[in-house]
Amino acid sequence: QSQGLTQFLKFSLPKDEGFHVLQLQSLPTQTHPIVTPVPNAESLPLTVKVQHFFSLFHHEKVIFALEIYVFLTLHSNDVPAERLIFVSKADTNGYCDTRVSFKSLTKSLLKYILSIDPNYYLQKVKPRERKYEQETNLLTRHTEVTKSLRILSKRYRLSLDSPSVPEDFYLNLKFSRYYVTKISLFTRPEPQYLFAESSQNKQKHYLDGSQLLQWWLSILDDILCEDFQVTAQAKLQIPGEDLPQINRHLKATKFSNWKVGDIFGQNPEELAAFTVPLFPDDPKTRFLRQLVEENRIHTTNLVSFWTELAQRQEFRLSVISSVIGVQGVLLKSSLYWPTSSMYQNQEIYVADSKKQFSYIKSYIIGEEYDTEEGALEAFANIRDFFKIRLNRRLPLIVGAKESTHASGNKRVNVINTLKTRKKPKK
Ligand code: ACO
Repeated sequence: QSQGLTQFLKFSLPKDEGFHVLQLQSLPTQTHPIVTPVPNAESLPLTVKVQHFFSLFHHEKVIFALEIYVFLTLHSNDVPAERLIFVSKADTNGYCDTRVSFKSLTKSLLKYILSIDPNYYLQKVKPRERKYEQETNLLTRHTEVTKSLRILSKRYRLSLDSPSVPEDFYLNLKFSRYYVTKISLFTRPEPQYLFAESSQNKQKHYLDGSQLLQWWLSILDDILCEDFQVTAQAKLQIPGEDLPQINRHLKATKFSNWKVGDIFGQNPEELAAFTVPLFPDDPKTRFLRQLVEENRIHTTNLVSFWTELAQRQEFRLSVISSVIGVQGVLLKSSLYWPTSSMYQNQEIYVADSKKQFSYIKSYIIGEEYDTEEGALEAFANIRDFFKIRLNRRLPLIVGAKESTHASGNKRVNVINTLKTRKKPKK
């Protein structure tokens, strides 16, 4: 019965050690197209955005988090549908007292995301605009007082326990059977991304720019070999570096189709505005916004976009930052539907609003991790929230990976001394 997440993760986690996992998902929501369509385009695509937020806990402490967005694009013409996985942030905090390969874990989480049927997200999509004014018995914050009272009295008369949702309140969409899967990410090392002040922890292990690039290349290279058809394309771009330099980073890859470049836009003369995707919290998006402000959005082509991007602060620092993209068709269909039902293995929690999503996520990212206390606090708060407010438990996964280290799994944590725990916030 325990399919899905557990199956994917257990072979990446040390044998016989228990790990709790939080998999938080946002409500699928209709959004603007990821790549801005050319003006007067014949038909506009419909795009749906979903956020996945994973956290891993061990010995009652949070130890790792990963933020991933999935964008689904449906076209009304013959253009194939597209699933785009944007890996936004991965971070550790150094409070794990057993050796975990975060590379293997991240790879498994990506493979799990790839296994999910796009139709799973499309059964109930929040539309970009809702027609609130139409006759409905649903109460929203836009409902006027007199109307609310009328609705309430009507509900009372009908003795309805819960309001029925009008049919067009959510979109119910269907993905075509043939679609392209893309994976996109921007690698730039930082002392901390999701765990504030964790850089103060001397036990935290970091990868520098070049190691981080190799780390992601190796994850994606394995996924390309294991999950994608051989026709898939894989691209690496390091703004500001010349071709031979970039090619050097690709030397160790196994998949045959790695090339220098980017999966978005093939022709260097194309306008960046209509080829470069708009991702949350991404330097390319920030640069596109700047071009709009400077009134250069309709004149900047891809070559000058990449040249100028390289000169921006985010790329100019001495660390290597890169843009990696993968695009192709998978070998096996993605058919998995994550389970969130109360009666099954509750591997995923789909937040019922944007607000609730941020609220739960803030138990992890709102904490401070200069001492171990933050990691304990985050776990206790999430566990209590799940138990008290949601009447659920965080899934527990028992590792099944044999240790390859002669010294075993133990990693001694001498620096961090425990302080008294604060009361969980409510
Ligand atoms: N001491 C010595 N070596 C260690 C230690 C340690 N404490 N911990 C791990 N290593 C070694 C591993 O053995 C492994 O070596 P190998 O490849 O030779 O087997 C290597 O370091 C990588 O280990 P992982 O467990 O895979 O990864 P790591 O613990 O470094 O975590 C991560 C990777 C999450 C990127 C981490 O470096 C980190 O938190 N960095 C700060 C935030 C960051 O820059 N995130 C990436 C942003 S880019 C993006 O997310 C799209």
